[in-house]
Amino acid sequence: MDSIKNIIPSWVLFSLVCMTLSACGSESDRNKKNSNSRSTDIALRNIISFNNLTGDVLKDREIPRIESAKAQLGMRLFFSKSLGGDRDSACVTCHHPVLGGGDNLSLSVGVGAENPNLLGKGRLHSALATNYDAGPPVPRNAPSTFNIAAWDQVLFHDGRVESVGKTANNQGADGLGIRTPDSKFNVADPLASNNLTSTQARFPVTSPEEMKGFNHNDKNRQEIREFLANRLGGSGAVASELIDTDYWLNQFRTTFNKPTATAKEIITEQNIAMLLGEYERSQAFSQNSWRDYIEGNNAAISASAKQGALIFFQTQAQGGANCAACHRGDLFSDEGFHNIAMPQIGRGKGDGSDKNTDFGRFRETKDKNDKYAFRTASLLNVEMTGPWSHAGAYTSLKAVIQHHLNPENAIADYDFGQLTQLNIQNLDKMQTNTQASLDKLASDRLLNKNVIQNIELSDEKIDHLIDFLKTLTDPCIKDRVCLSKWIPPVNEDPNGDQLDAVDATATRL
Ligand code: HEC
Ligand code: HEC
Repeated sequence: MDSIKNIIPSWVLFSLVCMTLSACGSESDRNKKNSNSRSTDIALRNIISFNNLTGDVLKDREIPRIESAKAQLGMRLFFSKSLGGDRDSACVTCHHPVLGGGDNLSLSVGVGAENPNLLGKGRLHSALATNYDAGPPVPRNAPSTFNIAAWDQVLFHDGRVESVGKTANNQGADGLGIRTPDSKFNVADPLASNNLTSTQARFPVTSPEEMKGFNHNDKNRQEIREFLANRLGGSGAVASELIDTDYWLNQFRTTFNKPTATAKEIITEQNIAMLLGEYERSQAFSQNSWRDYIEGNNAAISASAKQGALIFFQTQAQGGANCAACHRGDLFSDEGFHNIAMPQIGRGKGDGSDKNTDFGRFRETKDKNDKYAFRTASLLNVEMTGPWSHAGAYTSLKAVIQHHLNPENAIADYDFGQLTQLNIQNLDKMQTNTQASLDKLASDRLLNKNVIQNIELSDEKIDHLIDFLKTLTDPCIKDRVCLSKWIPPVNEDPNGDQLDAVDATATRL
């Protein structure tokens, strides 16, 4: 009789023995791994409950559906160059759904573009356009409009649109008012709309670089808003600017269910802002795998992402990087302001002795503690919202994380080659322009203020962090078909002002 070994291949025998004895190397490795991942899950579930995370950043908030009449009309306004002073820039110029709700540029290019309908990489400011050089005219990076309804306290990198009451889950609609650049710090703007988002929407049209252009210098903020409303309605001094004003009037009448209202009554700057806000607030994109994990599915995220989550939430003493100290809650932002000395590139906000830097939150509060502080960015969908930081100076998540871990080294070793946008101003002055924020960080550390600390993390751990950040991406935003509800069908406006965006290869976005 042949020995059993000759009949049954040795690996089968091996596993049979292993199954009965469960004492073999591979099996105990597997057990170890399972118990490792079990203990990781237990640790993460403790963190989740300790931080009251639900994964649903828009829970308990009133969010319009994109199918609602107001969001639909808001979408058409958002995509309309009729709201640009010279009809060459729209909200969507810098906030396109296919580009993560931003523009995929370090610094935005609004009016005076070589091709107004080309968005993303390759969008250039025309060297022939009046005012400014061929570089990006806008001094800051465009944040995403996705999940905009989750902010309760401040909008903009410096928080210059700000809820006075800051009530949780209210989006600034708690009745205490909203402060804007049209009112003094901490004082409610009487013309603010009913929430932060629609209030913010009243400002891009007043910015010469973003939308207003340079042929309307005679008009103040309120005058340009009313001029644009009159343009859409075909009234006032701009009666003949659009060939077809019925296009807008019919839509406003239907949306507000006021079939006999006049353009003057219904196409107001206040209604335009409200509608733009409804469209933006409908952009709810937080159905991500981190949320699936929170809701109980242990297999929703990878082992590496789980390690990354631990590093993200645990303190330095626990071996983590304490990211959640600032990137807190389901929004991954404390809505607070911190100086983390991000590289200062671009034309700046006119601050500093050379007028080409940006004092951030200090511009609003005039408190020297707030110099170079910028609002903590939300990290929802962060994988798709680059380039990152207030001036878009980093074009990889790895670089932006390494900056956090050691700002001094990151600035000293900054890789200018990562920037793909042409003609960015003041690159030669980046180091000197950023030094003041590094100095401030150093002195705050000496004073033991609660500021970012240097942390050593291996490349492997940084990769885990990146894998975790990628679990915050809602798959819908990578899917053109899923996003199509937020993009109007082409060429609906008889005036030709709808911005039907293309990329640098003339492919429709
Ligand atoms: C030329 C590019 C450009 C255009 C056009 C533009 N934006 Fe922006 N948007 C930006 C930039 C840049 C910022 C950040 C500015 C800052 O913080 O100082 C911003 C900020 C915002 C924010 C604040 C986001 C946040 O997280 O705080 C919202 C909301 C927004 N824009 C909506 C709009 C709407 C609505 C319009 C049209 C009325 C519009 N934008 C037009 C570039 C643009
Ligand atoms: C002290 C508060 C603080 C801590 C701690 C912190 N961050 Fe940040 N983070 C910020 C601020 C503030 C910004 C925006 C800075 C700017 O725009 O200049 C930011 C920006 C970012 C961005 C870019 C987002 C964007 O849209 O531009 C990423 C990614 C990021 N942080 C990840 C992390 C990670 C990962 C950690 C942990 C290793 C971390 N942060 C720790 C405050 C913090």
